[in-house]
Amino acid sequence: METVLSGIRSTGNLHLGNYMGAVRNFVRLQDDYRCFFFIADYHSLTTHPTPEDLHGNVRKVLAEYLASGIDPEKSVLYVQSEVPEVIELYLLLNMNAYLGELERTVTFKEKVRKNPNNVNAGLLTYPVLMAADILVHRANKVPVGKDQEQHLELARIFARRFNHMYGEKVFPEPEAFNFGRELVKVPGLDGTGKMGKSEGNGLFLVDDPKVIRKKVMSAVTDAGPTEPNQTPSEPVQNLFTIMDLVSDPGTVQFFRDQYSTCSIRYGDMKKQLAEDIVQFLAPIRERYDEIYNDDAYLHRVTKEGREKARESAAATMREVRRLFGFKPF
Ligand code: TYM
Repeated sequence: METVLSGIRSTGNLHLGNYMGAVRNFVRLQDDYRCFFFIADYHSLTTHPTPEDLHGNVRKVLAEYLASGIDPEKSVLYVQSEVPEVIELYLLLNMNAYLGELERTVTFKEKVRKNPNNVNAGLLTYPVLMAADILVHRANKVPVGKDQEQHLELARIFARRFNHMYGEKVFPEPEAFNFGRELVKVPGLDGTGKMGKSEGNGLFLVDDPKVIRKKVMSAVTDAGPTEPNQTPSEPVQNLFTIMDLVSDPGTVQFFRDQYSTCSIRYGDMKKQLAEDIVQFLAPIRERYDEIYNDDAYLHRVTKEGREKARESAAATMREVRRLFGFKPF
């Protein structure tokens, strides 16, 4: 049976982009595959969270995963830092990961540009840790958004390189996965670029309906179409893209037709979009608080997840250690 794995960095609440890129696709695969989903808390360390933030964010994300429908009876749900085998594989993979290929990664270059005072080695080797996450369970499919495509390409390179060097097909080559053909990129509400945690343009899964309405109503648009069948500007296209994800097709078509005939009123479109987002997220928001406050449940879920994840990871590491030539005396 093929293995599916995904994870999200625990740097704060999850937004609609995280849900559409990773969580939703994962949830739909749970019945038919061997599934692992984890909280990438080591990955969150590149930005130096305080100890309170570190732990608090893991709890939030854990509750959001569960509220979104990740079922610990079907999937192995765990916290990355509780599975030390990942770090051992990370160290070993680092020996065959080259500076040039890591420096060329788009996400690394972007971080260097945005935070020139914090170009740490963890940031550089971020894709190696990510490859270790994936390869330690020998995953085949990895539900992620468009921004992770290059990281998946590196994971495939590291897997191929390892198999070639040690002459055995230990690791499958993992594929980025989305139910549609293309990987998704959910745009932000600020007119350009993708929705992100730190961009200040996010719609969070557990945002209060009032907050969602306010954010959507103040989304960037333009002065309106001036001639029939015009191609929408980027900010307006972004609203349509989000609408495609949360509204029913008839609603989207209604506003597209209005756009094409220059009769659209963005205020009406935004009102509809806000209500559709509120409805779309309601089932997650309704379950979240109870799960977040249930210490015993969170304890049980993470304990079971840790045990199963370690068992799977340890089996891989026994082979990897043997191939490297580590032997007891
Ligand atoms: P992170 O935490 O930045 O994002 C988590 C997931 O959400 C997706 N995503 C989006 N998808 C569509 N539109 C958006 N606007 C959007 N923003 C974020 C991301 O593509 C990702 O799937 N490195 C990973 C976490 C990770 C991981 C792994 C993932 C660590 N190890 C192993 C898969 C497998 C990350 O930082 O994602």
